[in-house]
Amino acid sequence: MVTVEKYLVIHGPNLNLLGTREPEVYGTLTLNEINQKLMEMAEKYRVQLEIIQSNSEGEIIDFLHKNSNVKGIIINPAAYTHYSIAIYDAIKAVNLPTIEVHLSNVHAREDFRRQSVIAPACIGQISGFGFNSYLLALQALITQVS
Ligand code: DQA
Repeated sequence: MVTVEKYLVIHGPNLNLLGTREPEVYGTLTLNEINQKLMEMAEKYRVQLEIIQSNSEGEIIDFLHKNSNVKGIIINPAAYTHYSIAIYDAIKAVNLPTIEVHLSNVHAREDFRRQSVIAPACIGQISGFGFNSYLLALQALITQVS
């Protein structure tokens, strides 16, 4: 039996509103449409994805703890990027290759978005390519891990 490699995709707070939330910043695709694109890419690469969106820090941490048997993680921590030491600690604790993703270029926006407390726990950060940030991250992670 062939075991299929599994990756997590975690969307943080307010990303459930994609499509209508500040479309000039985050684009017009809904979260479901982005997930659909990720699933299509996963199929092409023959890997499995477990995807969640949560508006709650604790839920994101519980999800990381429960799924620590995967190959790697793509996370858009959204606003938690800028202050959640708890999510940073959880990524360090599960000790899996993780890529931080942002739809917008956080470095070209307000000062408070330039700092990521999560990035030091990650192998890299992809920011500013809209929904493509997620697809680039999946490609990078699969290439890096396999
Ligand atoms: C975001 C950028 C964050 O600063 C913001 O809080 C978000 C979305 C992005 O994908 O561009 O909610 O992570």
